Amino acid sequence: MTKTEQLAVIYQTKCRDCRRCALAQYRHNLVFGDGNPDRQIMLIGEGPGEQEDLTGIPFVGKAGQLLDQMLDIINLTREDYYICNIVKCRPPQNRDPQTVEQDACIHWLNQQIRVVEPKIVVCLGRIAACRIIRDNYRITREHGRWEQRNGVWLTAIYHPSALLRDVSKRPETFDDLKSIQQKIWEVFPERQSEPW
Ligand code: URA
Repeated sequence: MTKTEQLAVIYQTKCRDCRRCALAQYRHNLVFGDGNPDRQIMLIGEGPGEQEDLTGIPFVGKAGQLLDQMLDIINLTREDYYICNIVKCRPPQNRDPQTVEQDACIHWLNQQIRVVEPKIVVCLGRIAACRIIRDNYRITREHGRWEQRNGVWLTAIYHPSALLRDVSKRPETFDDLKSIQQKIWEVFPERQSEPW
């Protein structure tokens, strides 16, 4: 089975009807993941917002559109990475997902990671960084730094919602994007010669 097929099986046979936590009762759609699981690059956000809940696709609202524009600068489209969230159902009023909800949902992310086998993981925002990199991660101080764990390169950048609220963070994020591009070239040297 291809990775796309494996993910489709997880989604269709198990995840779609998930009732592991209370967020299930509010959802219109469970937001599983999107993009290309074959490129071994994963972007991980915190949880769906309104537009994502309505469409079932991660990062399609305002923050998602900004993320697309940011990644376009380094020539990345959804054909180049797989994107998903820590929690798959929208928290009410877009509040932070609670630890108990993250604990219940991480089961699905672990399965996605096992299929995608990422070599590079980019956490989008503090919640994802604290869950994936370290629970005391300080996004303002540590964003853009890299660490390697079990052969996987990990970093975090500001969440695009934070960049919508505070444009003064954008220049730093531009530097982080360039460092993501460098890391992709280092890990996948053949991608340097791919046409823009
Ligand atoms: N914010 C997130 O963290 N994830 C989404 O899918 C949309 C907005």
